[in-house]
Amino acid sequence: MKIEKKEVLKALETISVPGEGQNMVESGAVKNVLVFGDEVIVDITINNPSLQAKKKTEVSILQAIHKEVHQKAQVKVNLKVEAPVKENNAPEIKGKPIPGIDNIIAVASGKGGVGKSTVTANLAVTLAEMGFKVGLLDADIYGPSATIMFDVVNERPLSVTVDGKSKMKPVESYGVKVLSIGFFTKLDQAVVWRGPMASKALNQMIFDADWGELDFLLVDLPPGTGDIHLSIMQALPLTGAVVVSTPQTVALADARKGVAMFQQESINVPVLGVIENMSYFTPPELPDNKYHIFGKDGARNLAEDLGIPFLGELPLVQSIREAGDVGRPAALQENTPVSNSFVDITRNVVTETVRRNENIAPTEAVKITTMAGCSPAKKS
Ligand SMILES: Nc1ncnc2c1ncn2[C@@H]1O[C@H](COP(=O)(O)OP(=O)(O)OP(=O)(O)O)[C@@H](O)[C@H]1O
Ligand SMILES: [Mg+2]
Repeated sequence: MKIEKKEVLKALETISVPGEGQNMVESGAVKNVLVFGDEVIVDITINNPSLQAKKKTEVSILQAIHKEVHQKAQVKVNLKVEAPVKENNAPEIKGKPIPGIDNIIAVASGKGGVGKSTVTANLAVTLAEMGFKVGLLDADIYGPSATIMFDVVNERPLSVTVDGKSKMKPVESYGVKVLSIGFFTKLDQAVVWRGPMASKALNQMIFDADWGELDFLLVDLPPGTGDIHLSIMQALPLTGAVVVSTPQTVALADARKGVAMFQQESINVPVLGVIENMSYFTPPELPDNKYHIFGKDGARNLAEDLGIPFLGELPLVQSIREAGDVGRPAALQENTPVSNSFVDITRNVVTETVRRNENIAPTEAVKITTMAGCSPAKKS
């Protein structure tokens, strides 16, 4: 068997590192290729520290060489993980971090109705129960739901003076500081926002709000991946994003777009992982049966495919829906299978956030100018 180095490089040009558009030779991930008889050694450096990304990279190299070069080649992959150099990875968007807020995490989905707001609300109360200081920004300009989920429909943020400036004070519920577009619109009022207007309203809720010190600010995004998302995302110095999906094919296709949106060059926000919602249904009278109504393991497989962490699954349970509707997130129930699932998922989100902060420089964002659009109620 005679293997040529250029054949190996050609094979490697057919594959890319998970999450990267260019092939791994062009992107510079392949550092060296050595051939000794039937033995091929590939030195490769990737940015993604997740186990899935490493495994997927190794497997795809192996498969490509076996398929394109020689089925019996002895392939050895030396894989190194390297935090990206800031200059190369720096987002085009620039701006200032928000003083006092350590981590801003966006929750997105692509497809609507898959449970973003439910998951965000439950993550928030679980983080608060774990002792973190938590805020929740409901940025869903189409259908804000945080005021219902936190049972604060009839409350309004107060105006307070901080350092001589008037700021809106988030409404606190279950230990979570909440601000929502819903505080400024009537429940039955349709709001037609344009991108810049939405950004301005959000800008006020972020920069002109008295959030105080926060470990986590969770941002519940509207469904989709449109222009409005881009303007929202560029307004926020996001630490990372979490993508929620059901296992259903159509939801997964949209989740993939959601991940791609964060990873595109002008946004460049690390995706902390995927949460699968409505994974299965277990009828109360048949507690051992799991019915995979929307399909099985779809989001788990998607995460693996994209080389991003899988953060956990949540069953389809009536109590989750009911808890959302009555304004007391299900994760607040003590030691139920549902609240335990939320604890597991929340732990994974925290772990991935810590890992991300160890590996990558902070994400910056554009500073958008303040304007009227949503004014807080005056303290009387
Ligand atoms: N695991 C679950 N079990 C049962 N019901 C759920 C579950 N997750 C979400 N729901 C219910 O599904 C509906 C949609 O959920 P939610 O509003 O959280 O989705 P969303 O992705 O935020 O929707 P939108 O795209 O409209 O913002 C709600 O009625 C919610 O209570
Ligand atoms: Mg929602």
